[in-house]
Amino acid sequence: MINEIVIDGVTQTAEEGQNLLRVLRHLGIRVPSLCYHPALKKPIGTCRLCFVEVGTGEGPRRLQRSCTTRVKPGLSVVTWSEEIVAVRSQAMNTLMAYAPQSERLFRIAGDFGLHTNPLPDGCIRCGLCYRICEEIIGAGALKLAHREGHAHIVPAPGRCIGYGTCANICPTGAITVVDHDQVRTVSIRDEIIGQHPLERCEGCGDLVATPKFLESALTYREKGSKIPGSRGSRRSVPQSPRSSLIRTILIRPGGKDFSVMVQVLQILMGFLQLLQTPVSTQGGSSSGWST
Ligand code: SF4
Ligand code: FES
Repeated sequence: MINEIVIDGVTQTAEEGQNLLRVLRHLGIRVPSLCYHPALKKPIGTCRLCFVEVGTGEGPRRLQRSCTTRVKPGLSVVTWSEEIVAVRSQAMNTLMAYAPQSERLFRIAGDFGLHTNPLPDGCIRCGLCYRICEEIIGAGALKLAHREGHAHIVPAPGRCIGYGTCANICPTGAITVVDHDQVRTVSIRDEIIGQHPLERCEGCGDLVATPKFLESALTYREKGSKIPGSRGSRRSVPQSPRSSLIRTILIRPGGKDFSVMVQVLQILMGFLQLLQTPVSTQGGSSSGWST
């Protein structure tokens, strides 16, 4: 039996019991879908991309999958609204979490203006890296920034001094420190946070630290209570910056080569011995920071 139905304010005709998604497609109305296939008997509505607003007559409409909806008398359908985009976007983000490699998902998301989450980049946005770089190291070489509507950890150009503490504290390994050809490169994703030559230890001859690191440690020794480069006032620096610094350097990096950090610690300890106040490293190596 032929029925009159209203789609996006326009009266159309369709057979009672017809699949609504097929009717919409037949009329040239684009609706995203992935789990519907006309060759298969019963749609099961798993992808949740084909949502439209459905009602009867002047009554309220509700969001419904078009692939599992059948035409009936007085049907009124809206195929685009903010709510529809929101529910389709939510569905798309779920699908993308399962299959982030799928180009087709990206194409559909783009074609239908869906709001998708950023691709996984290994960073869980815990904020440890930029906070420790700012609060303890005082360099401020990383910051939280919004790109294309999403939060990302990004480098602050020219501020990295090559401690590598950000990589050390990162729980996911999203930040890397690579020492190669006497150069240390600190990176996040494919972006370089800082690149520094490595200086040799006068005692053992090993490449151990960056000039900016050594300069920083020396200045720190001279000033005692202020970590150089800190943008805060003296009072804003933690009360025991030395122990904080030691703790920071001792954080166990997940699966990374720890030897460079140990060497750096040894140098730092040498500096610290020159300070007047005795320093205890025992509490510093506690696992309060590590997992
Ligand atoms: S890069 Fe690592 S430490 Fe920084 S916010 Fe992401 S997961 Fe956290
Ligand atoms: S086409 Fe997948 S839920 Fe309708």
